[in-house]
Amino acid sequence: MCVSMEKISNLICKETEEAFAACGYDTALAKVTVSNRPDLCEYQCNGAMPLAKKEKKAPIIIAESIKEKLSGNPVFSEVDAVKPGFLNLKLNPEFLADYLTKMSADDRLGCDPVENPKTVIIDYGGPNVAKPLHVGHLRSAIIGESVKRIGRFMGNHMIGDVHLGDWGLQMGLIITELQKRQPELVYFKEDYTGKYPETAPFTISELEEIYPTASKKSKEDEAYKNEAMQATYELQHGRRGYQALLSHILNVSVSDLKKNYERLEVSFDLWKGESDAQPYIPDMVEKMKADGYAYVSDGALVVDVKEESDTKEIPPCMILKSDGASLYNTTDLATIVFRMQDYAPDEIIYVVDKRQELYFTQVFRCAKKTGIVKEDTKLQFLGFGTMNGKDGKPFKTREGGIMRLESLVENTNEEMRRKIIEGGKVAPELVEETSKIISLAAIKYGDLSNQASKDYIFDIDRFTSFEGNTGPYILYTVVRIKSILKKYEESEEDGKDARMAGIEAANSDSEKALMLELAKFNETVENAYYELAPHKICSYIYDLSNAFNRFYHDTPILGEQDEKRRASYIRELNLTKRVLETCIGLLGFYAPERM
Ligand code: ARG
Repeated sequence: MCVSMEKISNLICKETEEAFAACGYDTALAKVTVSNRPDLCEYQCNGAMPLAKKEKKAPIIIAESIKEKLSGNPVFSEVDAVKPGFLNLKLNPEFLADYLTKMSADDRLGCDPVENPKTVIIDYGGPNVAKPLHVGHLRSAIIGESVKRIGRFMGNHMIGDVHLGDWGLQMGLIITELQKRQPELVYFKEDYTGKYPETAPFTISELEEIYPTASKKSKEDEAYKNEAMQATYELQHGRRGYQALLSHILNVSVSDLKKNYERLEVSFDLWKGESDAQPYIPDMVEKMKADGYAYVSDGALVVDVKEESDTKEIPPCMILKSDGASLYNTTDLATIVFRMQDYAPDEIIYVVDKRQELYFTQVFRCAKKTGIVKEDTKLQFLGFGTMNGKDGKPFKTREGGIMRLESLVENTNEEMRRKIIEGGKVAPELVEETSKIISLAAIKYGDLSNQASKDYIFDIDRFTSFEGNTGPYILYTVVRIKSILKKYEESEEDGKDARMAGIEAANSDSEKALMLELAKFNETVENAYYELAPHKICSYIYDLSNAFNRFYHDTPILGEQDEKRRASYIRELNLTKRVLETCIGLLGFYAPERM
C-alpha cells in the first residue's frame, strides 16, 4: 500500500505556524528543526529571536505567547519557552506512534516520490579499456551507484552510463605491441577483405600485460611511440583490421569489467564509450563554426567560455588541436550531443575526480553556449576527493605500486573472513559468502560516510570493525533485528501479521528516541537526493542503529509479558529493519542472515 505522507517536521511546523498566526506574528519564522540539544528537547523553534526586533519585544515574551497558544495541542507533550527565546518542543508519544503506524503501512516508508520525475543520465565509473581498474575508479563507481539508486527511489528515470575510456593512444599501443608479437595475424594484412575471427587473439590477463609493456616501451623508444600513434590514427580513420582488433579488445575488457563491477554490486544501463561519440564530432564542430562560436586561435579551434562574473581565469574550451585532432573535451561535448538526441535528459550528473572540476566547467559552459543543451538542462559535476592510505598519501600497494581494485577488495575480504571465523557465528559453508557481503559494506560505507568532495583514509582495520561508525556495525544491527524477529515468529502465531497492525506510544526514553529517529527517514532520503549526498544516509543509519541498540539493551523485547506491547515492539523492529535495509540498499549493499 502507498499513502502520501507529510514529513514529520512539516506536520510540527503546521502547528507552530498556526500559533504564530494566532499571535499575529510572521509565520515564515515559525520553522521547526531537530533539536541541537537532545538532552533538553526533541525539536526546537528559534523564530522568537528574529521576531524580537520587528515586534520590539523581548524574545522570551514572544516565545511565552507562542507557548500559550500551543498549550493543549495534541502534537506536543511539552512546550517550553527558555531564555533568550527558544521554544523547546517534545512530541506527544501518541502522535509519534500514529506517525510510525502510517509509515509502517506504506510500501515507501513515508517517502513520497518527486512530483515531476526527471530523466537523468549519470556518468560514472569511467574505467579505461585494457587498463586494469584501480582504486581511483572505486570512488566513482561507489558514489555514482548510490546517487543513481537514490534518484531512482525518488521516482526519477535514472540512466547510468559507464562512459568507457576506449579512445586514444592506449588502443594504438596495444595494436602495435600485438603486431610485434604476432605479425602473422590476419588483422595486420592490409589487403585482406574477408571476415575476421570471432575469438580474440588474447585473454584478459595477456591484454593487461600487453598494455603496460607497450606503454613502457613507448616512453623509452621514440620510433615505437610513433608507430603506436600511426596505428591509433589508422584505427580512428577506419582501418578494418584494427577496428576488428578494437572490438576484441573491447569485448574482452568489458566482460572483465562487468565481473569486477558485479562484485561491487554496481551495474550500468549503458555501456557507451568515448568511441561512440566520435561520429558526432564533425557535424558538431561544423555547427560551432557556422554559428560563430568556434574560432581559430594559435592554430587551434576554440570556444570562449569565460563569464564576466568569473573571479578566476577560465581558459577557452579547445575543440580541435592545430593538427585537427580532437581532444578529451571534444569527446565529452559530442557525448552530450548524442545523449540529448537519444535520451533527451533533463539532467546529466558526472561523478568524477574533483581535479577535473575546471575541465567540466569549461565543457558545461561550452555545451550551454553553443546550444548543445537547452538553457534549462542541468549539467552537474559531483567531484570526489582522493582515497588515501594511512600515511595520508594516495593509496598504494605495500611495494608502492598502484593498487588494483581487485586486490583491495580481496584484502578486505580476507580480513573479514578472518574475523568471521574468529567470531564463530557463521556456518563454515556460509563463511565465504558472508565475508563477501560484509566486506562490500565495509568498503562502500567507509567511502560513502565521508562527504564525497573530501579526501579520506582507507583504513582497513577501522572499516572492517563491527563497532563504531562502520558498515559492519550497521549490518550487525540488521542481523540482530532479524534474529529477534525470527525467534518471535517461531514462538508466536501472529508473528507474520506484526507488520500490519499499529504501533503503541513509547514506554521508555530509549524507545521514544528510536521512534524519533525512525520518523526522520523520509526527510533524510529527500535531503540526500537533493544534495547528491549519500553521506547523509550514512549518518542517519548510524544514529538509527545507535538508537536501536540502546533500546535493545534497555528492553526485554521478547520477555515483555504484555502481549499487545510485545507485538508493538515487534512492529517497531520490523519497521527499523525495513528502514535500515532500504537505506543500505540505497547505498549499494545489503545484509547477511548471520554474522
Ligand atoms: N576515463 C576517465 C578517467 O579515467 C574518466 C571519465 C569521466 N567521465 C567523463 N565523461 N569524462 O579519468
